[in-house]
Amino acid sequence: MKKAIYPGSFDPITNGHLDILKRALEVFDEVVVLVADNQNKKQRFTVEERVLMIKDAVKEYKGVKVDSTHGLTVAYAKKVGATHLIRGLRAVTDFEYEFSLAEANRFIDSSIDMVFFMANPEHSYISSSAIDDMHKANVDISKLVPESVIKTYQKK
Ligand code: COA
Repeated sequence: MKKAIYPGSFDPITNGHLDILKRALEVFDEVVVLVADNQNKKQRFTVEERVLMIKDAVKEYKGVKVDSTHGLTVAYAKKVGATHLIRGLRAVTDFEYEFSLAEANRFIDSSIDMVFFMANPEHSYISSSAIDDMHKANVDISKLVPESVIKTYQKK
């Protein structure tokens, strides 16, 4: 069984992330969406809120688990028997960052490999920060994020 981890901050998850996830599920039998820490980022939603939003967004998908970690992503992958990490690339600007992240992961554990999916051009401008900025400016984000994100914003 081919198992992969799709790690990210997912703060919050967007339809762009869900597009990458759906495509990863065509390649892997199981994908764990992993809410992980990026030490350089300030949190908008708590880890628990992010996990709940993702769980709701993927409830119809087969072969998906949702979890979180405060440790290294590759250590989590090893622990659960996953062989690959999934990442999305939206533009050339993502490449440099992804390249160094991939190299750091390879240094930590070269047995876990990375797989990259090119973002659908329709989603290439979406980021979690852009979603947050739009929401704060009262722009309608309902076509860009799952319903669970809208509901969680409404509760906050
Ligand atoms: N659709 C929408 N947005 C996308 C996207 C897509 N297809 N692909 C990337 N993004 C956006 C995200 O929304 C996010 O936007 P933001 O910066 O406005 O929040 C940005 O691209 C990148 O976010 P993400 O993919 O979540 O990565 P990240 O840099 O926040 O986090 C981790 C990377 C969490 C996977 C990484 O830091 C990690 O593994 N941390 C754990 C510790 C570790 O193992 N570190 C690595 C080795 S030292």
